[in-house]
Amino acid sequence: MNNIKEFFKTSSERVETFLESYITNSSLFTSGLNEGMRYSLFAGGKRLRPALVYASYSLFKDDYDYVTPFAAAIEVIHTYSLIHDDLPAMDNDDMRRGKPSNHKAFGEAEAILAGDALLTKAFEIMSDTSYSPQMPVDIRLKAIYKLARAAGDKGMVGGQFADITSEGRKPTIELVDYIHKNKTSALIECAIYLGAVAAEAKENEIDNLIAFGKYTGLAFQVVDDILDITSTSEVLGKNVQKDIESNKATYPAVYSLEGAKQKADEYINKALYHLDIFGERADILRDIASFITERNS
Ligand code: IPE
Ligand code: IPE
Ligand code: MG
Ligand code: MG
Ligand code: MG
Repeated sequence: MNNIKEFFKTSSERVETFLESYITNSSLFTSGLNEGMRYSLFAGGKRLRPALVYASYSLFKDDYDYVTPFAAAIEVIHTYSLIHDDLPAMDNDDMRRGKPSNHKAFGEAEAILAGDALLTKAFEIMSDTSYSPQMPVDIRLKAIYKLARAAGDKGMVGGQFADITSEGRKPTIELVDYIHKNKTSALIECAIYLGAVAAEAKENEIDNLIAFGKYTGLAFQVVDDILDITSTSEVLGKNVQKDIESNKATYPAVYSLEGAKQKADEYINKALYHLDIFGERADILRDIASFITERNS
């Protein structure tokens, strides 16, 4: 597990160094916008998605800088999703990553725009050929397509829509599965895909990695639901007990807390099965999968 801490640390440093120089301000009139974008980006998240990009890439190659723009882009999209998720019209949360949420610090309109700017910034980064210029164009295009798909109506935004519009209604298993698969698992699966496609992995390898990402992503959101009930805001850096209060469609709401824990383990076991073909070289992905179920923040 020491190994994995080190892996997360190095992954975060790589991505943060990249973002530090990429997210710059260009006009006197947008310094507040830039400040808002950087405020949430550098508030210190776990950087799980970049770590997954690097871990997936590490199965095949080790020149990590090559894939850093992809790792950065997915973290930028994830950060935008958190800013919008916390808005009064969405989950109405005033704390995120241990600090006041973006709209609390900068105002609601400003937070919406910081989110919009981060979403588009991700695609600017992905298509910026001054980084990793040797990357084949078809590989870059596949990656951009997958990220767009995972972030939009057939992915994260679709999941967020179902999450918000089903508040207060009795959730079914099908509904919770849809929400989790889309609002969270889609981006996590995409992170794994980005590492694999950048490394030009074979189709069969990519298929197994995508399945690993899908089940890991589902487990991740089940654990997020569980922690909302069992953890504290000091440890999580965000409000707790919010899902029951807002009548959210969550795994504990459908399966009970104990049932949700079993579901998380079940998903992780399914995820791990898809790593078998890689042998020991996938140990870092195995460690990340264990971290996801054992984490307390
Ligand atoms: C929180 O994601 C939102 C979900 C998809 C559950 P993380 O738990 O990865 O948040 P950060 O990036 O560490 O803040
Ligand atoms: C949000 O799920 C997933 C996103 C796409 C941001 P939650 O609403 O459960 O995330 P938290 O608990 O606020 O981090
Ligand atoms: Mg939400
Ligand atoms: Mg939320
Ligand atoms: Mg949550």
